[in-house]
Amino acid sequence: MILITGGAGYIGSHTLIDLAEITTEELLSVDNFENSSAATFDRIAAICKKKVDNTEIDLTDLQKTTEVFQKNKITAIIHFAAHKAVGDSVEQPLKYYHNNIQSLVNLLQCCEEFKVNNFIFSSSCTVYGQPEVLPVDESSPILPAESPYGNTKQIGEEIIKDFCTANPSFNAIALRYFNPVGAHISGLNGELPTGVPSNLVPFITQTGIGIRAQLTVFGADYNTRDGSCVRDYIHVSDIAHAHTLALNRVQNNDNKEQFEVFNLGSGNGTTVLEAIKAFEKVSGVALNYKIGPRRGGDIEQVYSDSTKAKDELGWETKFNLDEMMSSAWKWELQLKAEREKI
Ligand code: NAD
Ligand code: WQD
Repeated sequence: MILITGGAGYIGSHTLIDLAEITTEELLSVDNFENSSAATFDRIAAICKKKVDNTEIDLTDLQKTTEVFQKNKITAIIHFAAHKAVGDSVEQPLKYYHNNIQSLVNLLQCCEEFKVNNFIFSSSCTVYGQPEVLPVDESSPILPAESPYGNTKQIGEEIIKDFCTANPSFNAIALRYFNPVGAHISGLNGELPTGVPSNLVPFITQTGIGIRAQLTVFGADYNTRDGSCVRDYIHVSDIAHAHTLALNRVQNNDNKEQFEVFNLGSGNGTTVLEAIKAFEKVSGVALNYKIGPRRGGDIEQVYSDSTKAKDELGWETKFNLDEMMSSAWKWELQLKAEREKI
């Protein structure tokens, strides 16, 4: 059985869909629904006609986490569960250190006790900060974290590396995502931001649908081709599939090192204004936006060299920027239809 922590969340749910379509192994999610809801599992079932069970516990509770391992024969873990809001982590650092680090330590403790040797970890491009050389590959230096959230990813990778040293049979892969966006192509599952979205694409689609009055472009005076920041947007279903491939790699002992790291990005740098144009093109909606001041803490540009994931995992991206935007828009329309039904 494969344990997916945070399976009700944005990337976890898309990974469950990918896994459900490919693997015959049993899947179990653990999620306390702190940033998601049980309805996600109905969405997953509607897409792939498979019901995934969820155990609702907080992974920072060691006893409850241990019970999950006692009750189920878990052979591999994909660990998504974490708090992820960068700004919030600056205001509430302990909440992030407690949740993100304690849940990881508890899971690894259970790996040791129950001899689970396959582990995939959600890391982030945030570990690179503003790289000097672009595109950024896995050999780029890890710069001091710019937020407590980013620090939990750096520390998380270090903890797993140390755990590997102490446990020679343990295989782990950290996947460093760039900017995951979009929704399942059916439009039936996607991101569910709580409150005002801080990420660009949900803010765009919520503005397009009329939930937000106007989008502010945070700065158009950067040293980029149109002055707005450059990011590497990557479709969530492409990110999801990389987990299936990474899982196969550790399960088949195909990994070259005990602890491996892969970037997951499209390799394309896209400016904020280009993202807006792509949205307008695929949706046919003229977006109400204005240019505003820079957002504190934003880096000017980052995009990925994902050659390693292509060569080693056989990972190929399927979806381009237009498809990222059209699927995100389809999902926003689906949410609107659901609201109107109530
Ligand atoms: P998400 O918030 O949608 O999903 C995380 C899920 O974990 C939620 O359903 C939440 O309820 C659950 N959870 C959190 N803490 C828990 C705990 N202690 N016990 C049980 N369940 C818990 O986030 P996401 O966007 O799907 O991100 C998944 C992972 O990917 C996170 O580790 C995140 O840091 C990482 N990541 C995300 C992005 C991004 O932009 N979305 C980028 C890079 C890395
Ligand atoms: C993208 C671009 C904004 C909103 C964050 C985390 C990072 C990783 C991915 C988890 C930036 C601009 C945004 C808006 C705007 N997450 N923007 N107006 O900041 O690249 O990365 O998510 O690991 O750690 O920091 O993503 O979507 O917030 O912003 O102009 O209303 O859109 O300035 O240039 P970011 P984002």
